[in-house]
Amino acid sequence: MQAIGTATGFAIRAAGEGDAERIATLSEQLGYPTDAEAMLKRLRAIGRRPDHGVFVAEAEGNVVGWVHVYAVAALESPAHAEIGGLVVDEAHRGRGIGRALMERAEAWARDMGLGAVRLRSNVIRAEAHAFYERIGYAQVKTQKVFAKALT
Ligand SMILES: CC(C)(COP(=O)(O)OP(=O)(O)OC[C@H]1O[C@@H](n2cnc3c(N)ncnc32)[C@H](O)[C@@H]1OP(=O)(O)O)[C@@H](O)C(=O)NCCC(=O)NCCS
Repeated sequence: MQAIGTATGFAIRAAGEGDAERIATLSEQLGYPTDAEAMLKRLRAIGRRPDHGVFVAEAEGNVVGWVHVYAVAALESPAHAEIGGLVVDEAHRGRGIGRALMERAEAWARDMGLGAVRLRSNVIRAEAHAFYERIGYAQVKTQKVFAKALT
């Protein structure tokens, strides 16, 4: 287990398949309800990809947070890391776990040779925005997200 956060009663480590159920439960708190079976499939698929990292925070023997980070290659800008999702259990917020998860994602990005981390956050998540600013992120643009279902 990695040392980040151990002094404050939690530890950050790479996620494993055994974490699927807790990651799914926490996804619900993020606003993306997912059952454990579907989460396991996603974790397996992501786990096979070297350009993705998933890390969990463990406290008192339970997974209490997770972060997903991945590399993005683009033509118009240098490759960078993007945060796919981040959540800390409601009962464990405000004790540095979110910061430690983001630091782990940033360390992963550095190891991958990436020069920046970006993330997209829904405009309604004002509390998350305050958190990101507190840990050194700045808003660089506002976007609309478009989608089309492929039938
Ligand atoms: C956002 C979230 C991950 C923060 O996790 P956390 O473990 O509570 O955050 P930390 O305790 O590591 O906080 C780190 C710093 O941010 C500050 N911070 C955290 N939440 C904050 C808030 N709502 N408003 C202002 N500052 C905040 C903390 O005070 C701390 O500052 P400090 O180091 O100077 O004391 C957590 O609130 C969460 O899971 N929210 C719901 C899901 C979500 O919105 N995810 C992001 C989607 S884009």
